[in-house]
Amino acid sequence: MINDPPPACYAFAVIDIHSHIMPTIDDGARTVEEAVEMARIAAEDGIEQMVSTPHMFNGLSHNPEPSEIADRVAQLNEAVRKVLSGPFTILPGNEVRISHEMVGQVRQNRVSRINGRNYMLVEFPQVSVPMAAEELFYGLQCEGVQPILVHPERNSQIQADPSIVANFVEHGILIQVTAMSVTGEFGPAAKSCADRLLRHNCVHFLASDAHRSGRRRPVLSKGKAAAAAIIGEERARALVYDNPLAAIRGEKLHVDSPIPFGSSVNGANVPHRPNLPHPKRSFLSRFFSR
Ligand SMILES: [Fe+2]
Repeated sequence: MINDPPPACYAFAVIDIHSHIMPTIDDGARTVEEAVEMARIAAEDGIEQMVSTPHMFNGLSHNPEPSEIADRVAQLNEAVRKVLSGPFTILPGNEVRISHEMVGQVRQNRVSRINGRNYMLVEFPQVSVPMAAEELFYGLQCEGVQPILVHPERNSQIQADPSIVANFVEHGILIQVTAMSVTGEFGPAAKSCADRLLRHNCVHFLASDAHRSGRRRPVLSKGKAAAAAIIGEERARALVYDNPLAAIRGEKLHVDSPIPFGSSVNGANVPHRPNLPHPKRSFLSRFFSR
């Protein structure tokens, strides 16, 4: 057994809601040994619970059913417990590519929601925002699912117009930004976008989206510190503890309204760039605001 040093950087247990720690299932960990090493890195960084969220329906996995995810999570927890002495638990989940089939896939119970509750990670394609996104999110909400849009700060269309995200938040969608975007490790465009989303109350979770033990590691402390420099310690803590705790428990989150883009935030002028269209709003979705 390795005697892990106690995480010195937190006075609370950090929860990571987005990771590819499950081995040999997508583009994440390549072996059980690498997955266990990722768990060791995460525990050392103060993470105590990590949601395993293999890709679904984007061609990077065989789209494992919830029963397979549950079995593999149990096996991985067993492998981790043989090596780590401190508290560290892996929970089931999925990262689902948005599509017109998504609501039907949820209805058929083909998707693993976070810890088997009602929160679910949804990803967009990298360069564009699907025109039907709002209707598809509304379809999930009608099924009792709380959608979490993952890493919008890495989407080219959103980088050009972050106010698109505020529109989703107003319609009850929660937002996860990747820690490495806030630290600048995904480049200046993602960092600038993450920064603006944080200042405009458009971020509810900070997650690692870890893929490997060497690069894209399961580390949240640096991203949390960078977020705290922008929005303050208490609100940064909510992104890695309070809000993820609500997600793994399936409890309702009450979030602040977005600050409109084009407003002055913390003394910095943030101009609105209306050069790209917003996703089309349906008649029904206009009545489904928080
Ligand atoms: Fe991911």
